[in-house]
Amino acid sequence: MRRVYLDNNATTPVLPEVLEAMGPYFAEHFGNASSIHHHGQETRAAVERARESVAALLGCRASEIVFTSGGTEGDNLAISGLTGAGDHVISSTIEHHAVLNSCKHLEAMGCEVTYVPVDGRGLVDPDDVRRAVRPNTKLVTIMMANNETGVLQPVEEIGKIAAEADVYFHTDAVQAAGKVPIDVKRIGYDLLSISGHKLHAPQGVGAIYVRKGTILQPLFYGGSHERSRRAGTENVPGIIGLGKAADMAREALERGDLERMSAMRDQIEETILSQVEATGINGAGAPRVPNTTNIHFDYIEGEALVIALDLKGLAVSTGAACSSGAIEPSHVLTAMGLPPEIARASLRFSLGKQNTPEDVQFALDLVPQTVARLRELSPVYHAGSLK
Ligand SMILES: Cc1ncc(COP(=O)(O)O)c(C=O)c1O
Repeated sequence: MRRVYLDNNATTPVLPEVLEAMGPYFAEHFGNASSIHHHGQETRAAVERARESVAALLGCRASEIVFTSGGTEGDNLAISGLTGAGDHVISSTIEHHAVLNSCKHLEAMGCEVTYVPVDGRGLVDPDDVRRAVRPNTKLVTIMMANNETGVLQPVEEIGKIAAEADVYFHTDAVQAAGKVPIDVKRIGYDLLSISGHKLHAPQGVGAIYVRKGTILQPLFYGGSHERSRRAGTENVPGIIGLGKAADMAREALERGDLERMSAMRDQIEETILSQVEATGINGAGAPRVPNTTNIHFDYIEGEALVIALDLKGLAVSTGAACSSGAIEPSHVLTAMGLPPEIARASLRFSLGKQNTPEDVQFALDLVPQTVARLRELSPVYHAGSLK
């Protein structure tokens, strides 16, 4: 059976070039990057080259990059590393659980957190951030691109507000890296986390940009790896993969390759909206990353549609992979003001570098007929105003 994968915001396949770059670092160049002998030194040199590559993608110095195990660790390190009891933090209602649950933990430890709302397009109003600032505000943590809708937040304005208030600014850029240009200095970020497996590097590796001079409490205690900011022997093959994927992402952005992706995304939206009644785009009208669309198919349970499409070979999702199977409607879509039944009727399609126009056509042949079949079985559809 043909299988098409349009769930690249959950994870991406490792690109062949990335796999090839990683290959020698499993058995041939296996040294511990902290060892002073030849084996360690050749590994160390490769790790430092990968650090340069990640820094080039983000527009910072290599010494400002700390390798982590992924986006969750980066978000936790930024949030817990900067704050303590009595501090105030500003975040938003649409963050990934890596940020939301880190903030919940802070609250339990005696911090106060303000979660600024979003409008119907999924956008934070920078003025809400400005109004939320207090004398004890230590950190603003607002994501760059949302994982469910792809909506890009007004980070430039938020960065200015944070700088004027002399407050640290962290962003979860896990879903933005490789999809839009990032320049940490221009935005004024102090911290920015990324994850390898969202940009065609392997799962279990990531990085965080930490602006020079920022003092972070580490999450782990151990050796003095990563300039004492992240103890633990480096995941060398993963780091080499992340470096290669960062190079490829930067080159693709420079070449304008992502226009091909946004054209495929637009085709999905135009075809579905014109061929399937009672549908709409969540986050329409907001700036978005080029690979993501989130569409509501009214009168349908999104989970049922995901399963029906999967049975026919198409992989999409209802939202964050870690919350799939949850009965609760998406916190992101409900924060945008969608009624729970519309939030539950929503599906995310997310493209990756490996996807072709044929993949998109496969999806577009399948979705309208599957939606029609599920609606035929749906009593709410027949009782609704459409019939
Ligand atoms: C926006 C966002 N932040 C953080 C994460 C967590 O990243 P990781 O899976 O590398 O821990 C994800 C993964 O889904 C994400 O989409």
